[in-house]
Amino acid sequence: MSDPQTLPQAADIDAIRDRLDGEIAAISDLRALDDLRVAALGKKGEISLMMRSLGKMSVDEKKVMGPALNGLKSDVAALVEARKTALEDAALDAALASETMDMSLPVGRKTGTLHPVPQVMEEMAVIFSDMGFSVAEGPDIEDDFHNFTALNFPPGHPARDMHDTFFLEDGEKVLRTHTSPVQIRIMMSEKPPLRIIAPGRTYRSDSDQTHTPMFHQVEGLVIGEDIHMGHLKGCLMDFVSAFFETDVDVRFRPHHFPFTEPSAEMDVRYERDGAAIKIGTGESWMEILGCGMVHPNVLRACNLDPDVYQGFAFGMGVDRLAMLKYGMPDLRDMFAGDPRWLGHYGFSPLVQASLESGLS
Ligand code: DAH
Repeated sequence: MSDPQTLPQAADIDAIRDRLDGEIAAISDLRALDDLRVAALGKKGEISLMMRSLGKMSVDEKKVMGPALNGLKSDVAALVEARKTALEDAALDAALASETMDMSLPVGRKTGTLHPVPQVMEEMAVIFSDMGFSVAEGPDIEDDFHNFTALNFPPGHPARDMHDTFFLEDGEKVLRTHTSPVQIRIMMSEKPPLRIIAPGRTYRSDSDQTHTPMFHQVEGLVIGEDIHMGHLKGCLMDFVSAFFETDVDVRFRPHHFPFTEPSAEMDVRYERDGAAIKIGTGESWMEILGCGMVHPNVLRACNLDPDVYQGFAFGMGVDRLAMLKYGMPDLRDMFAGDPRWLGHYGFSPLVQASLESGLS
């Protein structure tokens, strides 16, 4: 025979349910509710201990008490859950009522600024989207094929060494040394005609006043059936004048890139005015981008027939263009995260670059 003193009786169950029901209803915060849940239903909770005593009961007692205890357990769990939902809803209502925002208040510039790099990328996107380009992206971690081979850098080619590549430990992957691999990804995944720019981070093992191991580029690619060097020149001349917001004199100088033929670098006319640099006037020339007609080998690597399709491509350093346009002296400051620098050179996050209202 079991001991009626220590083992729960069916009559106890209703009393416990009523008591817990009252206690749960009286709780007004979530932490206290959870404490009650643990005290009743937790491993060493009141109801769990009662369920453990089932093992000591006779078969007949078990038949009554087993279902009764299970019922109690699920009832209490449901009561806790319902109370929890009610308390959470009440907390949300209270938050919504108290955390109102006065939309008529003026917005200050004290909260933070947009870094010049995203600002300049945005300006470029605005200019090129006006010319019908869309924005494409590719991964920062690239494979050899997209970063080099498909861009007509054969294995062992000396131009690979010029890129001071960061190799990943697996020996297969690299941190992309330029945004040109996005050209390959787009040509392999989309059908011409193509007109894209690809802004993004690029990496080379190099660090001094004009180089940082991470920097930013914007790549451009146009592929079609009658594209020639005149399109390239017109497009880039329009771009620089729009970007510097003044008429800019440019010159194209022959150069070499493995992925373009012919290749050129574009220089802009400038002069020094004390420490500042003035773009558009003077007798000096500064290189700002590389460009050229897409090499037939690159088209072939992307399964495009060079007898049908031609195109041009270009690539430029965003950080350098930001420095030129906004007059920052040292490239390394760009990524030092100094709030004084950001406060001085940063842009209002609330003003969108646009061709109508001004880029900057
Ligand atoms: N990828 C080159 C670099 O990082 C820049 C470049 C030059 C891109 C010429 C181009 C191009 O698409 O046609 O130095």
